[in-house]
Amino acid sequence: MLILQSAVDGTRVRAIDELVARGTRGPSGRPVIFVDDPALAEIVLHGPTFDRGRLARSFCGNGLLFSDGDHWRERRRIVQPAFPPRDPDQHLQDVTWALPGLLRRFETAAATGSTLGVVEETVRYTTRVLYRGVFGQELPEDHDRVETILDYFDSIGGILSATIFPALKLDGRSMSEVRGKTAAMDVEVDRLIDVRRAGKTNPDDDRTDALGRIIDEVGKAGNQEGVREEVRSLLVAGAETTSNTLGFLLLMLATHPDARDRLERELDAAPSGSPPFLDAVIFETLRLFPAVWFQTRESTAPVTLGDRRLEKDEMVFVSTALIHRHPDLWAEPDSFMPERFLPGSEGAWQPPHRYAFFPFGGGRHLCLGRHLAMHELRIAVREIVRRFRVELVEEIPLVAELGVVLKPGRKIRVRVVERGRTPR
Ligand code: HEM
Repeated sequence: MLILQSAVDGTRVRAIDELVARGTRGPSGRPVIFVDDPALAEIVLHGPTFDRGRLARSFCGNGLLFSDGDHWRERRRIVQPAFPPRDPDQHLQDVTWALPGLLRRFETAAATGSTLGVVEETVRYTTRVLYRGVFGQELPEDHDRVETILDYFDSIGGILSATIFPALKLDGRSMSEVRGKTAAMDVEVDRLIDVRRAGKTNPDDDRTDALGRIIDEVGKAGNQEGVREEVRSLLVAGAETTSNTLGFLLLMLATHPDARDRLERELDAAPSGSPPFLDAVIFETLRLFPAVWFQTRESTAPVTLGDRRLEKDEMVFVSTALIHRHPDLWAEPDSFMPERFLPGSEGAWQPPHRYAFFPFGGGRHLCLGRHLAMHELRIAVREIVRRFRVELVEEIPLVAELGVVLKPGRKIRVRVVERGRTPR
């Protein structure tokens, strides 16, 4: 499988810089335009002359995360009520339900001295939250869906990268692997749709769930493929994004003892609260390692963007990963410094530009799951850091992988130590 791996140098993901320098090609054959200016990002994300285009859709289907126009509006109308904007706590119960499973796996690893796969464990946790809150069904805490889901994401990530970055050659073997991984994923997607059609696995849960609405509204017209593409899209959107943020965050704490010590102290002093430093650590991780490291758009008509004239069908990469580290916007952009997000003498932290920090996107496609994601992160980090220390396994280098999302290397393993047993 073509997986684009990169050394993480300090915190810098080298491959992003190298790929940009090596040149790119959009679906029209013309180079991709990288946007690393927040003012231009705002124009692209809000502008009527840019839409999501055809590239991602051709690999991932026409689900909510990849579609635009009337089709997207209709699907958003269907899914939105499962994420009510006025009830940001709608999915809190799914998080508190799933978290003990993750903590138990940490406990066992600490007790037995065994190592844990960072990506595998964090995806197992976020998948359980997603299945319960969004697909209306509960998975056991040692469920085996992780490999299928990760393999599928890795394989489409590989094709997308190779399409956009011609320096990465895609061979016939990779294509047949993609077909195999997609087929395995389809089996899982059909299984989970069948389970939901039979009713919620927890009959006491009377909340509106996204899959229930999709089955009712998209599936009623016999559009089984439409139901599948929404499930795939929600899986891409909601499983790996939060898990990768949590994974990078644990790795940052393992390599930045000052930040880790401060977070431990502040959490110990506020047993049931959420000290501002907790959010600061989460935001700093989202700044340095935005899971959605780029947002692609295509011009729907000739348009001027800054000092460039774009033809119709040009591909634009709104490069969250580059903007989040732009030296004109951030002091010491490659340093992990959560304190930059703390309130100062003039009140709450303010970004240097509205689109200097936008891990959840913006404009009409603003992330639907952002409240869910923040709950997943806050509660997991709070409970993990209170009880455990996570340590790198020295022999395994800290690498990142770049695909549809940015993630810690899949082979990274960590040791877990119960804090009561570590010298403080
Ligand atoms: C840390 C975790 C997450 C990050 C960083 C993140 C980031 C993003 C970003 C940047 C977008 C905009 C993409 C674009 O403009 O093309 C987006 C869209 C979306 N996200 Fe998230 N997301 C996260 C978690 C979640 C979760 C947990 C869900 C729940 C299912 C979710 C559901 C969605 C959906 C459905 C969209 C498409 C919205 C639309 O186009 O109408 N996300 N996300």
